[in-house]
Amino acid sequence: MSKNKELSLIPTVLIRKVQDQIPLTKEEIFALIKGFQDESVPAYQMSALLMAIYYKGITKQEKVWLTEALMKSGETLSWPDENYIDKHSTGGVGDKVSIILAPLLAAMGFKLPMMAGRGLGHTGGTIDKLESIGVNTGLSIDDFKKYTNENQFCIIGQTKDICPADKKLYALRDVTCTVSSLPLITASIVSKKIAEGVKGIVYDVKTGSGAFMKAKEDSITLAESLVETSKGLGAKSIAVITDMSQPLGRYVGNSLEMFECFEILDNKKLAYSDYKDTSLVTLELAARITALIKNVDYKKAYETAKTKLHDGSTKELLYKALKNQGWNGEIPKPQEKFHEFKASKSGYISSFDNEQIGWAGVALGAGRKNLQSIIDPHVGFYFNKKISSSVNEGECLVKVYYNDPDKLNDALKLLENSIMITETKTEEPKLIQDIIS
Ligand code: URA
Repeated sequence: MSKNKELSLIPTVLIRKVQDQIPLTKEEIFALIKGFQDESVPAYQMSALLMAIYYKGITKQEKVWLTEALMKSGETLSWPDENYIDKHSTGGVGDKVSIILAPLLAAMGFKLPMMAGRGLGHTGGTIDKLESIGVNTGLSIDDFKKYTNENQFCIIGQTKDICPADKKLYALRDVTCTVSSLPLITASIVSKKIAEGVKGIVYDVKTGSGAFMKAKEDSITLAESLVETSKGLGAKSIAVITDMSQPLGRYVGNSLEMFECFEILDNKKLAYSDYKDTSLVTLELAARITALIKNVDYKKAYETAKTKLHDGSTKELLYKALKNQGWNGEIPKPQEKFHEFKASKSGYISSFDNEQIGWAGVALGAGRKNLQSIIDPHVGFYFNKKISSSVNEGECLVKVYYNDPDKLNDALKLLENSIMITETKTEEPKLIQDIIS
């Protein structure tokens, strides 16, 4: 008995168990994460463990324990009731939904302590977008709690206090090529949400060429994993699978995306024409989580969300929260300097290589090529045409907002092969593809 207990804390024995698909116990998983944090389990053994998980997988129960171990590696928050909720998106191109969804849900009676991310790879990040207009996202935990209560929502970047083991593990996954393992992605995402202390989570799981999970089956598998693990740790949860086969909305780039958000809240007509898809994903997520948490009819919740998005209440809450976090109240406008990327032939837009568009944004300076890169907040794209739009040869497909001509050239090379035009008209992609609950 005592021999087994001692054996269970030897990292190589635990790595071997994962290799042989023998489930680890809760104690073993917690010991590994604690050991990794205090460096008694060195990075080379943790790397071997990650690789074993990557190839052999772990059980659902082990995944819940791993999530819990990451969650408990740092500070955890708690709130008085079920109205504290959050949203997570798996990331995409032009995905600015969090910036209007958080105040919309606040207007619908929720509170959102939201910890968001920076751009990752070809995708944009909510924190970079907010910082592009001077919002301070580096608040202390005390201010995070205070602002969440006072402003009904607060968006901050990842702090060193919440889930520190995830931060360390993520860096190791990054350099050992194990980021894409489903249980590891799940534990990383869900641990941070549960650590926020929220009792409800809506996941926006993207699918298509601009998403990390490009095939719908993979997006569904990730959504199921996120939902079941969240429930396993006591949070009500639902996932919406949404299209990322083309940029969401019209603008891609940090302050440009903020501009689109302000436009949506300002103008009803624009919201349902130009920026229709951003608005529709926002409304869907708002209605789904409201129906789940408040136990109300989904259609009713959708109608309420539609009203609140445009009656001024969402706008008021967004302005209040951003101003309290340092925004000077000035709405960013697209800069005057842009290049028109034109159609090489007439026809219909049939598809986008949306990941390549994301990389074109990175080349332009809207994202980071490496950790040292400095983002240009004003550069990016306006997509004049979307899938199924008709185009004439020479017509502007994309306005490319740039500052550095060399970066413009790099971005144009990537844009060149990323928008397909055909003679026959393709149907618009289905925006809301599935619901996983
Ligand atoms: N976002 C995270 O926080 N973790 C992952 O593993 C992937 C995306």
